[in-house]
Amino acid sequence: ADVVFIASEIFPFSKTGGLGDVLGALPLALHNKGIKTAVITPFYGRIGTAEYDIRLAWSDVPVGYPWAPITADVYQADYKGMPVYFIHRSEYFDRRFYYCNHRGDFFDNAERFIFFNRAAQSLMERFETAPQIIHAHDWQAALSPAYLYYNRMKNPFWEDTRSVFTIHNLAFQGRFASRLFENCGLPPSAWSMHGVEFYGDFNFMKAGISYADKITTVSPNYSKEILTQQFGCDLHNVLMARKDRLHGILNGADYDVWNPENNKYLAKAYTRNNVRGKRTCKCSLIEELGLDPELKKRPLLGFIGRLRKQKGVNMLVDVIPELMEKNVGLVVLGEGNLEREATLLNYMETYPKKMCTIVDYTEELAHKIQAASDIFLMPSTYEPCGLTQLYALKFGTIPVASAVGGLHDTIMSWPHPHATGFTFENINSGAFIDSISDAIDVWENNPREFRRIIGRAMAKDFSWDKAANEYVALYKELGLRT
Ligand code: ADP
Ligand code: GLC
Repeated sequence: ADVVFIASEIFPFSKTGGLGDVLGALPLALHNKGIKTAVITPFYGRIGTAEYDIRLAWSDVPVGYPWAPITADVYQADYKGMPVYFIHRSEYFDRRFYYCNHRGDFFDNAERFIFFNRAAQSLMERFETAPQIIHAHDWQAALSPAYLYYNRMKNPFWEDTRSVFTIHNLAFQGRFASRLFENCGLPPSAWSMHGVEFYGDFNFMKAGISYADKITTVSPNYSKEILTQQFGCDLHNVLMARKDRLHGILNGADYDVWNPENNKYLAKAYTRNNVRGKRTCKCSLIEELGLDPELKKRPLLGFIGRLRKQKGVNMLVDVIPELMEKNVGLVVLGEGNLEREATLLNYMETYPKKMCTIVDYTEELAHKIQAASDIFLMPSTYEPCGLTQLYALKFGTIPVASAVGGLHDTIMSWPHPHATGFTFENINSGAFIDSISDAIDVWENNPREFRRIIGRAMAKDFSWDKAANEYVALYKELGLRT
């Protein structure tokens, strides 16, 4: 393959969030443009081998640790014509959760992902020709640009390969004790301010930033925000020094998956020209969740996301009592921190039949909530891109969101004549409830205006094709020949 993606998730094989969605779509979009693309990813226990016909391609590939003869088995699947390689080593990857469980991060994450990145290099060395571009994603794959950088110096195989590193979320850096650097296989010179060292720790994210030939983030606005102290997660100076290589490319949405027109999960399909089916979806979800049937006549508000501070869950919790006074329905789907899960579950008992909290991870409900809701809540404290608001727009579910990161780039706020949603600038519960009140007010008192907003939202096109073209242009700057 000419462009090889290295990432820890790829939908539909694995997914914890937007990273999985992106890897499930961008490589294929490039592949469909005639670029020879492949993906390398870990083999987690939950991957359905039968469903996707995953076959053993290489067994016992030496991963080349200086100190131990550790090997990887590599499985391969043909995913819509594109090869996906799965790095298999059960003690590292055969787990229900990929990075952490309720008790916290796995203790061996450094070892697991050092192994993954090294195995990816070893695997690519078995290819007939070296990839022209390796494109690594987030901290789990961030050592790959560093390995490439040093391999390029000593192995002519890698001479013409260039690397791209995409930051999907700067807050998760893969930061570990310095002793874990010792056996990672990078030379001692990498342990420097200009390499992987970060306040005395080993920082994977910093490796990606320091060694990649190009760095990208998933929206133009976030690429500017991360240069500031407020959003830079202590890496803003490091990023500032590499600013000339940093680009913001807005994610796309996979409309083959996220579409109300053709969607196996929905009670009824609907389109922009005929949104009546959306009401059927709403009534059906209200019944399925046992909510008050009276709510069929009121606005239904939805939230889908990891219950982390990033997603503004604290603000969501703050506004619930006031929302409930407005006599609207609220459906929350998410999992994350036990305490927040409990708070949201308690609210469900305080407001039975008005509010429903589902602590789970289910694609089916995510689609149903997108279709059934009138208003989609996304009060993120920061948001590198955000995909759920893109899905909401396509489903005619009007976002109420903070104006940060990719939310700022993708939602035009009411009362602008081209409005597709409602955004608020100052990120606090007061501004959030005001913005929700505006949305409810338009819904109640100006239904024709609300319909126009829905029409504009559903007409928005964030398909992957545009993003794919921008990535191709970037790869070409690095010398990609097609
Ligand atoms: P992030 O990657 O920061 O979590 P995104 O908006 O980019 O945010 O992507 C989130 C993805 O994860 C979407 O596909 C969303 O539907 C999905 N998702 C999040 N939480 C859940 C959940 N509890 N159940 C099902 N899907 C979820
Ligand atoms: C990260 C970000 C999210 C983004 C996703 C895909 O998980 O939190 O904003 O949409 O990656 O790039």
